[in-house]
Amino acid sequence: MSETDFLLEITDMSLEKNQQNYETIFSLSNGYLGTRGSKEEDFILNKKADQGTFVNGFYESEPIVYGEAAYGYAKDSQTIARVPNAKQFMFSFNGTPFSKGKISNEHHYLDMKKGILCRSFTWVSQKDEVVEVKTERFVSMTNKHFLFNQYEVTPVTHSGLFEFHGEFTTNDRVLEEDDDPRKAKSMAHLLTTQVLLGEEQEPYLETRTSHSGLCMMSSLTLSTDQEKILPRTQSTSTGYHYDFEVEVAKDNSYAVRQQVYYGESYETEFLDYLSEKAAHEAYWLDFWEMSDIQIEGDPTLQKGIRHNLFHLNQAAGRDGKTNISAKGITSDGYEGHYFWDTEMYMIPFFIYTQPEVAKKLLMYRYSILNNAKKRAEELGISSGVLFPWRTINGEECSAYYPAGTAQVHINGDISYAIQTYVDVTGDTQFMEEYGAEMMVEIARFWLSFGAFNQDEFMINGVTGPDEYTALVNNNFYTNKLAKYNLECVVNLIQESPYLQERLAIQQDEIEKWALAAKLMRLPYDKERGLTLQDDGMVYRQVWPFKTTPKEKYPLLLHYHPMMIYKHQVNKQADTVLSQYLFEGDFTREQLARDYAYYESITTHDSSLSRSIFGIVGTRINEVEKAYDYFMDTVSMDLDDVQGNTIDGIHAANLGGMWLGLVKGFGGVTIQDKELHISPVLPDKWQSLTFCIKYQSRVIRVFVSHKEVRVTLVSGEKITLAINKQSVILESGLVITL
Ligand code: BGC
Repeated sequence: MSETDFLLEITDMSLEKNQQNYETIFSLSNGYLGTRGSKEEDFILNKKADQGTFVNGFYESEPIVYGEAAYGYAKDSQTIARVPNAKQFMFSFNGTPFSKGKISNEHHYLDMKKGILCRSFTWVSQKDEVVEVKTERFVSMTNKHFLFNQYEVTPVTHSGLFEFHGEFTTNDRVLEEDDDPRKAKSMAHLLTTQVLLGEEQEPYLETRTSHSGLCMMSSLTLSTDQEKILPRTQSTSTGYHYDFEVEVAKDNSYAVRQQVYYGESYETEFLDYLSEKAAHEAYWLDFWEMSDIQIEGDPTLQKGIRHNLFHLNQAAGRDGKTNISAKGITSDGYEGHYFWDTEMYMIPFFIYTQPEVAKKLLMYRYSILNNAKKRAEELGISSGVLFPWRTINGEECSAYYPAGTAQVHINGDISYAIQTYVDVTGDTQFMEEYGAEMMVEIARFWLSFGAFNQDEFMINGVTGPDEYTALVNNNFYTNKLAKYNLECVVNLIQESPYLQERLAIQQDEIEKWALAAKLMRLPYDKERGLTLQDDGMVYRQVWPFKTTPKEKYPLLLHYHPMMIYKHQVNKQADTVLSQYLFEGDFTREQLARDYAYYESITTHDSSLSRSIFGIVGTRINEVEKAYDYFMDTVSMDLDDVQGNTIDGIHAANLGGMWLGLVKGFGGVTIQDKELHISPVLPDKWQSLTFCIKYQSRVIRVFVSHKEVRVTLVSGEKITLAINKQSVILESGLVITL
């Protein structure tokens, strides 16, 4: 693979729709700290730019004001807060301000192989003085508190004086009045940023939230060639401005480096830029070694795949105290909240490639188990836990309960992810110490929230994944996951008397769990042979798709929820999602029938939908359809498929893309605790190559139209199934198709 296969240039994107999409697409983050890809000079030249910098989990809250409150509604909002932005930087040359010059030859690209955002351009003053400018930026993957930016100028026609001006301030986003629930509201008015002086009288900033009681320290160290630059500074209400000058002779270069720190305490360490950069680049090279997915046959698509993998990796909190927000750390869209997106869409990538990160993500859930316990109590649920639908700090902050708290499937999603993590990694210690407790509390929830009724176990008054259908009885997806959780817990406890004792489980509890699992209601229409999304589905009319104009999508922005809820119309995969998860429980014919029906009523207004329709398409021989869905998932942000890339990347969809490649086309599944690989290659590709980690082994899979080559890269031999044929993998195996 050549280096250029990892370079994403601004010309690769369709930017006509929205100039600011590049800020999202070029965002850099490391799971802790994230900054949008705005240009240094945007703070003067492009007032609409969103230059946001964020720290995962650093949020402000406010009491939610309800017109008509009711018992048990979420009390406080939580919104990821903007931290001071150090990228704002520009120069004047021999008295000509930057804004009066002309820019040409601009190249703006992301080097995904090394994790560096680069830019180069020529600036020409009104007096025809030419300055070449080069910038590079990275958010360190090896030193999570730091972001680095380098701004290099080379005067090529005249020697002269550069006057540099920069700002280190908390700047707000320019918000237009909008009803779009996916956008964040501004919290800037609740933040206070104070300039303080450090040991050597160098300024640093302390940003405090008013209600959530959090404090973020940040500092900016300027240097050139390892010499600190000490500029003149001037405090403002949100940070400080600074200026300094330097004479640069013609054809000489001068590079200003910014080392920007964010953390809970004041940090003075002055780091060596080049060694920090080298360590960061080495991290990314290692990442690609394990996690790159290669396709032969479509170089543009290849770049898109890498871009999505790059962002997915950047998005994940890795400290056990934070998670992955719906927009990663690229924006405050969806307010920086963590949803089920992590467990059902993103965590599989980490489970199969970086299990240590997956474990931290699950540890985050463990860290909020007490909140989940309290939330269940608050709702009057006598036993068990209810995890929050949307949260940062562990408390429920979804203000609209029909599409929030009512999505109790979040419990089943978390349990499913724990079981998958343990099945794939073999980390039974995690299960014993943390996983089992969460799963047992979730099992307790079903029993106290649901009820036995006429020989069935029912879970009523809930909302499934499809947010265009709310507050229904027996959502198929929810019940299927509840059943799986109960079955897993029964097995686990029967195998471990130790856990039974530690988690104070009564024998009759186990019996009830087993019975509820056995009698779980899974709605089905025998006459039509159709799996039903919920009990009431048959009574709802199909949405008038034929008479709905294109501009009325997404429906959520144009119709009152009541109008949507009374129809059969899906925002996203719901029943089909459960069929991807539990494929083995359905015949091929059943899958095909349900797929055709649900596809006909799904708008894909949610970005979490297409990837799943793509995967299930591969299972029912609809490979072309699967391919089209897959293409949309790859280009979702690059081509602004959902029309809101400006508000941040669609993180769940990034995970969905990985699922599409590895689980869909790659055909990787775990069946009866055994690894299965049954690939399906789209006609348009010559080959597909990926690696997975499975129970302390690294396995590489290469699929072409002639063969499947599976290689044990490291670890002990293992029995697995390739195209349903049981084989022992010792080193390498080639199965000819
Ligand atoms: C989807 C949810 C998802 C949320 C955040 C919504 O549009 O319907 O399923 O969790 O976005 O990504």
